[in-house]
Amino acid sequence: MINSTARAHALSQVCLLLTCRPFAAQFIVLGPDHPIVAVMGEDVVLPCHLSPGLNAENMEVRWFRTQFSVYVHLYHSGQDHYSSQMPEYQGRTEILKEGISVGNASLRILRTRLSDEGQYHCLIKDGDFYEEATLELNVADPFFTKDSPWMAALFATLAVCLASLVIVILFVLRLRGEVRIEQEGIWATKTPLN
Ligand SMILES: *[C@@H]1O[C@H](CO)[C@@H](O)[C@H](O)[C@H]1NC(C)=O
Repeated sequence: MINSTARAHALSQVCLLLTCRPFAAQFIVLGPDHPIVAVMGEDVVLPCHLSPGLNAENMEVRWFRTQFSVYVHLYHSGQDHYSSQMPEYQGRTEILKEGISVGNASLRILRTRLSDEGQYHCLIKDGDFYEEATLELNVADPFFTKDSPWMAALFATLAVCLASLVIVILFVLRLRGEVRIEQEGIWATKTPLN
């Protein structure tokens, strides 16, 4: 708590020096520093939280991509708002409400699509003050994912094909060998007669 407050304070000083905000920071918003990886079709949680962990029930939480006004998810005044939600996210988003009273504004995206891949902004606003975190979501196609049933099936099929090929080649070689022995046998029986 003391640590994160100190960090928020230090950051506010940096912000003041760079004049990026006319206000002193009340909190900072933190997201993961590495890309989040989802598997297409499965649910994923995009982490985002306040530091210090203030109660954000009465703050505004806005998850958006490129356009601030057309959002992925918007929460304010204690409820979710869908009027300007990007149509492709309709019915697929939820803020994890159980964490909001301790500053956790993580977003769950249901049934991830390949088009969900890219950058997300998590903006938290309290009165006139706001901060945001940016994070990256990568969506993996399950067919090309390691350990996927599709990949296992593909490898099994390839192994069976390869084994069949080896058996066929061995069979052909043996057959040729037998023909040659047979021909040599005929030659050998014919020679003494000449
Ligand atoms: C926020 O909530 C999510 C989902 O419940 C959890 O995975 C994450 O660890 C929480 N983050 C913090 C900082 O508590």
